[in-house]
Amino acid sequence: MHTVASTGEPLRVAVVGTGHVGLVTAGTMAAIGHHVVGVDSDRSKIERLEGGECPFFEPGLHELLFGRQGPGRLEFATGTTAAVDGADVVFICVGTPARATGEANLVAVEQAAREAAAGLSGRAVIVEKSTVPAGTAHRLRQTLARVWRGSIDHLAVASNPEFLREGRAVEDSLFPDRILVGAEEDWAFETMRRLYQPITEAGARLIETDITTAELAKHACNAYLALKISYANALARLCERAGADVEAVADVMGSDARIGRQFLNAGLGYGGYCFPKDIQAFRRLASELGYDFGLLDEVVRINEDAVESVIDKVREALWNLEDKRTALFGLSFKPGTDDVRFSPSLKLAARLIEEGAACTGYDPEAADNAAREVPALEICPTPYEAARGAHCVVISTEWEEFAQLDLAKLQEVMAYPIIADGRNLFDYPAMRAHGFAYYPTGRAPLT
Ligand code: UDX
Repeated sequence: MHTVASTGEPLRVAVVGTGHVGLVTAGTMAAIGHHVVGVDSDRSKIERLEGGECPFFEPGLHELLFGRQGPGRLEFATGTTAAVDGADVVFICVGTPARATGEANLVAVEQAAREAAAGLSGRAVIVEKSTVPAGTAHRLRQTLARVWRGSIDHLAVASNPEFLREGRAVEDSLFPDRILVGAEEDWAFETMRRLYQPITEAGARLIETDITTAELAKHACNAYLALKISYANALARLCERAGADVEAVADVMGSDARIGRQFLNAGLGYGGYCFPKDIQAFRRLASELGYDFGLLDEVVRINEDAVESVIDKVREALWNLEDKRTALFGLSFKPGTDDVRFSPSLKLAARLIEEGAACTGYDPEAADNAAREVPALEICPTPYEAARGAHCVVISTEWEEFAQLDLAKLQEVMAYPIIADGRNLFDYPAMRAHGFAYYPTGRAPLT
């Protein structure tokens, strides 16, 4: 991992919420020279962190938190009000899960702001890092004013959304393309500039906007990326019917700099804790503002259809599913993480089981989480074990190690040599050479 030199005057930073975003933020702030306290109401989590244990798998995070970079500058605590005492900046990194209506549940955000405000008597910026709907800052300001009976000249609210990809969050946090800060007061902008100085000096672009624009821009980015993925998946359905190749279509599109190749990979669709929740929340916000953003409904519909399309391929290959064994390779929502939240792969597992197929699964990191989520899924310690006696292997998450599999051995242990490739990981020559019937996504099958 590269390092960012700490420059300028250190600030005192509190980070409320020690989930994915909070811990990466806390580690980054300490690494660039600030004094940081990470706060969480979950005592057992804080105890684990105090013991030098990272509560989840994220490449480079353990080193960021407990390695050489930020010695003595990072501590952990449970009570927000006491922990923020003397802080210049308080990051709110608590969860904003979706309510049944799709709207973001902001109870934890409000509570974090209330508890932080009660402990802040000096000048401080309270920063929304969690993804929140446009308009939340206004509510936060109201909350602060209630705590302080109206006199809140010492407090400012800012929006500083995260753009961290799981699996690359540490890299994204230390070396971001851009840092977005929305605020109203000049001194709040100034504090945020000082805070991020080591990172901006290393080349990251700082974009400053009003606060509502920053809030909305974050949702706009995630919804647009999801839109690109759904566009690719819609094209895949079309290519399958027309006899065209979606990979080649995406390459042609991607060679146009105005479009770009990233996020045009057709497959099982998007999952994870951000996209599904953020699109719902954005859709809901638009409705509340009186705009019918129906385009987002289509994005969601196409994404759900992507899983069904793989079921159709497995059924096409196997005829009846009831007496068949299927093996899923990859259970996390994407490679490089143990996170299975809203994983398309687990949605597929549940659907295959519902259709009567037996289902085994292998994942290099997410096996335990997957077992908890879908108990009927039989977890195996190796891909070959998962494939033993299976009538069809489905590539559901494109972990790099699957590209290195011994295909001859895989073929040998399976009941039928059939692969449904939900992530277009394999190529035709390799499949043909090993005698597999091959059902890729958005490309012609090899039967
Ligand atoms: C995302 C955003 O990228 C990040 O900026 C934001 O702050 C948090 O949400 P993350 O959820 O970690 O990050 O995953 P990302 O790498 O964006 O992938 C999201 C999903 O889209 C995954 O399920 C992935 O498999 C899928 N995907 C991605 C595709 O199906 N096709 C693609 O071409 C790209």
